[in-house]
Amino acid sequence: MSHPALSPTVLARALDIAKAAAAMAANLIDECIDRRVALEIEQKSSSADMVTQYDKQCEELVLKHLSTEFPDFAVLSEETKSDVVITDAPTWIVDPIDGTTSFVHNSFDCGVSIGLAVNKRPVLGVVHLPRMKEVFTAIEGQGAFLNGRKISVSSITDPAKAIVCTHVPYNRSSASVAALLGINRELMQDLKVHAVRTYGSAAMDMCSVACGRLDLYFEVGIHAWDMAAAAVIVREAGGVVHNVDDPSDKMNLDLSSRGMSCGSNHEMSKLGTMLATKHNYRAAVLDLPV
Ligand code: IPD
Ligand code: CA
Repeated sequence: MSHPALSPTVLARALDIAKAAAAMAANLIDECIDRRVALEIEQKSSSADMVTQYDKQCEELVLKHLSTEFPDFAVLSEETKSDVVITDAPTWIVDPIDGTTSFVHNSFDCGVSIGLAVNKRPVLGVVHLPRMKEVFTAIEGQGAFLNGRKISVSSITDPAKAIVCTHVPYNRSSASVAALLGINRELMQDLKVHAVRTYGSAAMDMCSVACGRLDLYFEVGIHAWDMAAAAVIVREAGGVVHNVDDPSDKMNLDLSSRGMSCGSNHEMSKLGTMLATKHNYRAAVLDLPV
C-alpha cells in the first residue's frame, strides 16, 4: 500500500531541517579544504573510489540532525546505511560528500546531497556546494531555487548547441573505458556539441542542468544518494530525468537502477539514452553480460 503524501507543512519543515543538516556538513567540507587537513583515505570499489574520515564525520552530523527532528523517517546513506532498501515510507537519501575525489583534491565540485523520497519518488532535495557557495533546493510542485532564487533549465534542444556532461567511471575495465570514450567521441566528432565537460559530483552536475549551465548529463554507475535530491531540483526547474535506458515518455526514475539521464528537456535526455544504448554503457560499467 502506498504511503499518503506528506503535508505542505511537514515538507516545509523537512526542507528547513535538511538545509540546516546540509549546512553543517558543508561547513566541515569547507573548513577541511581551507585548512588542507590530513586525510585518512580508504579505497572502496576501485583505487579511484575513495572514502575519508570526513565523509563519515559529515554523515554523522547530517544523520544526527535528520533523525532527531524526524525520528520516524527511514534513512539511506552512503557510508553507514547504504544497504537500506527504499520502501514507500518517507526516506531520507543522503550523500554526505558527493564528489569525494574532488574533495580529496581540494576542488570545487563537491558537496552535500540530501533528498527525501515518499513512495520511492523524490519529493524534496537540498544540494549544498560549499566551495561554489551554492545551495540548490526544491520541493515537488513548488519550483527549484538556487540560493533562494528561482531557477530554470536551458531551452537548448539541438545537440550541436549543447554542453554535455559525462563522468569518468570508477570501473576502469576495457569495456567501461571503451564505452565512455565511444560516447565522448560521438559527442565531439559526430554531434559536434559545443563542449563535453566532466566534473566530480553527480548532484552538482544535475543541479547544473537545473540552472541551465549544462544541457545534458547522463551516467551509469551512480547510486540513489547521488541523484535523489537533485532529481527533484531538475524536475522542478522544468527539466527531465529518467532511467538511462528508457527513452519512453514515462520519465520514470528508479533510484536503485544505478543510472539516469537528465536534460533540459526530453530531446536532450533521450540523446543520453540513445548514446548509452548504442555504446553498451550500462552493461560495460556495471559488468553485466552483453
Ligand atoms: C560519485 C560522484 C561522481 C560520479 C560517481 C559517484 P561519490 O559520488 O558523484 O561524480 O561520477 O558515479 O559515485 O563517490 O563522490 O560520493
Ligand atoms: Ca559520497
